[in-house]
Amino acid sequence: MNTEVTINRLGYQGDGIADGPVFAPRILPGEVVSGVLDGTQLHDIRIVTPSDDRVAPVCRHYKACGGCQVQHASDGFVAHWKQGLVQKALGSHGLEPDMRPIVTSPANSRRRATLAVRRTKKGAMAGFHARASDVITQIPECQLLRPSILAGIPLAEELAIQGSSRKAALAVTLTCARAGLDVSVTGGKALDGPLQQTLAQVAQAYGVARLSWQGEVIAMSAPPAQVFGVAQVVPPSGAFLQATQEGESALLAAVCEIAGEASHIADLFAGCGTFSLPLAGLGEVLAVEGDAGMVEALDQGWRKSTGLKHVTAEARDLFRRPLLPDELARFGAVVLDPPRAGAAAQVAELAKAQVARIAYVSCNPITFARDAKALVDAGYALDWVQVVDQFRWSAHTELVASFTAPAAKK
Ligand SMILES: C[S@@+](CC[C@H](N)C(=O)[O-])C[C@H]1O[C@@H](n2cnc3c(N)ncnc32)[C@H](O)[C@@H]1O
Repeated sequence: MNTEVTINRLGYQGDGIADGPVFAPRILPGEVVSGVLDGTQLHDIRIVTPSDDRVAPVCRHYKACGGCQVQHASDGFVAHWKQGLVQKALGSHGLEPDMRPIVTSPANSRRRATLAVRRTKKGAMAGFHARASDVITQIPECQLLRPSILAGIPLAEELAIQGSSRKAALAVTLTCARAGLDVSVTGGKALDGPLQQTLAQVAQAYGVARLSWQGEVIAMSAPPAQVFGVAQVVPPSGAFLQATQEGESALLAAVCEIAGEASHIADLFAGCGTFSLPLAGLGEVLAVEGDAGMVEALDQGWRKSTGLKHVTAEARDLFRRPLLPDELARFGAVVLDPPRAGAAAQVAELAKAQVARIAYVSCNPITFARDAKALVDAGYALDWVQVVDQFRWSAHTELVASFTAPAAKK
């Protein structure tokens, strides 16, 4: 029996939600839909009344692929929705900051992607998982990825043919570097001498800059350096990199605006130096990061560059050992860019320390709002928030925010 409902909001994953609740994937607020209700899920959905915000998806793979969630909505709608998610998270803590205009990365700009790759009877197939499924959708005309990542699909398939069984899927992370693709693979067969030789031949045949297999470097024709300001850094295989160059530039511009006037800056959760190294053109930097390999890469990048102020790179678990008030006292600005869990322990110390300026970059509006509330309760002003959408057409939301200590405002 068919049920008809009116969608009144979107959930955090981009699904339409009607009273009940009834969940209807890829349906927009205001749309009237009918379908077969299975528990709380509506299936075999037919749109009775479409929204004015509904658009034709730009990608021909959208229907089958789970890589994008909101390609059926206009850019304006998605921008408004993502800003609204951040405002709602902050509003639940009583915070209503100024929102700067969203910056959305263009199509075909993702410079790093992890493909699922599986051997088949005839060869192999690489792509993204279908929605809530382990079925792989092939994506030769994906509108998210840079052309050079799409050009790596045959390579990813060859790696699966040579190095995986038909039972397990490989996860092949392709990262664009100036020297070519930086490729990191997990889920493959255990390495032995012959496999290592075969994989090295594949890397050479496809002109790969670096190939790593389960964390071990198999082949490197050229160091796959990333450029941060004037510095070049060779990250450890599979290391974090901001998803698009455009998103990184927007975040960096905001971080420099907030922190750039300080003579001493602490960059916490620093990665390989995305912010630390450009900031070192402006002031002395302490870069703290939990992953020792990334700290080493950052340090080497600084040592090999010229014209930068001093950078001290420290490996430290900031969840367990946050910088304490006496360590924070010498910094005019702190940059925070934690993982999704946020930075509760570090924020508790910042609350006691009163650093003049804080730039907080976040990939999770919920933990950001919790941490923002703790800072505001300690006397900081939340000056503004800007959503930086590096994951266009997805339900993922990122942002950068400016905090000022009361003394710095005067
Ligand atoms: C969102 S990334 C940001 C990296 C860097 N700021 C950038 O823009 O490239 C978060 C970083 O936090 C690091 N991290 C995760 N948990 C940590 C912890 N407990 N202590 C210190 N760093 C941690 C990760 O290794 C990762 O490099």
